[in-house]
Amino acid sequence: MSQSDIADRDGMQNGQAQDGGEESTRRDFIYIATASFGAVGVAGVAWPLIDQMNPDASVRALAAVEIDISAVEVGQSITVKWRGKPVFIRHRTEEEITSAEATPLSDLPDPQSDEARIQRPEWLVMVGICTHLGCVPLGQRGDYGGWFCPCHGSHYDTSGRIRKGPAPLNLEVPDYVFLTDTRIRIG
Ligand code: FES
Repeated sequence: MSQSDIADRDGMQNGQAQDGGEESTRRDFIYIATASFGAVGVAGVAWPLIDQMNPDASVRALAAVEIDISAVEVGQSITVKWRGKPVFIRHRTEEEITSAEATPLSDLPDPQSDEARIQRPEWLVMVGICTHLGCVPLGQRGDYGGWFCPCHGSHYDTSGRIRKGPAPLNLEVPDYVFLTDTRIRIG
């Protein structure tokens, strides 16, 4: 809490003592309303702030995670944390792969082939942060069977490409490599 907040609160308490009754109630309401609005603001920018608190670039460049994906069945996804961000790893179904591959680039706001976004068709790996304002999209939702961002209604397809809504870009694909058939390293 800042000095001015403390001062405001003290002022209110003094005000209660001096004004009493209706005036102090009104001030209390303004204080509570301001505090509540502030809390909403904090939630909305959570990812960018956390991201900025990460170590500097030289440390971050070293950060990689290895993940065992052997237990992820077809049709399942897991979310792992990498450099403070959620990363979605999806074991895609045949239908999801077919749909992603069959989509004409002309239908895409941010044209990119499915092939360019994957290393193995059955595995999709991407950063789970909406490219609009940074919310975390929900999997297997939305009009294209991929991901849906509930914050402002962006729809991503089964390749994580933006199809509808305010997000300007596809979900980001991080650098990663298959170490074995069941183990990947991100970063
Ligand atoms: S943050 Fe996802 S649509 Fe706005």
